[in-house]
Amino acid sequence: MALSATKPQQSATMDIGIDRSDRAKLAELLGTALANTYVLYAKVQGFHWNVTGPMFFSVHKSTEEQYEDLAQSIDEIAERIRAVGFKSPTTLARFIQSADVKEEASNPDAAEMIRMLVQDHEAVAKSLRAAVEEADRLEDVFTADLLTARIGKHEQYAWMLRAMVEKSA
Ligand SMILES: [Fe+2]
Repeated sequence: MALSATKPQQSATMDIGIDRSDRAKLAELLGTALANTYVLYAKVQGFHWNVTGPMFFSVHKSTEEQYEDLAQSIDEIAERIRAVGFKSPTTLARFIQSADVKEEASNPDAAEMIRMLVQDHEAVAKSLRAAVEEADRLEDVFTADLLTARIGKHEQYAWMLRAMVEKSA
């Protein structure tokens, strides 16, 4: 059927098989994941810039790999919020406010940077695990998958960083 030239076009209603209230809950879970990823991105990149000492090269390289991956996932998570029907949060102030990850203004030594990042990656992985459970319950398999993949990455970084400071057996 042709659209009337005089009638404004209705925006398409959304039906992906998940209720609006459930989609709102999903957007909230994704929003927390986005905030944590954004704050961790900034922290990891700051450590990449300012690390010094004998571990410079390994920390510098590892943090580069991490922040590139985090940047890509920021985009994926935010766009998933759009796909479930909501606007993504945007401001840095809001990310900082809703993230569990805390910013780091000081420049700790390399071992302390590693310790902090291990803790942050583990905390984000744990928080994502709860989000995956909720996404599964709401039958959003794509969000559950996306966040599950993120858990794998955060746990991988936690392991790699931990291995840098572990004594060999
Ligand atoms: Fe760099």
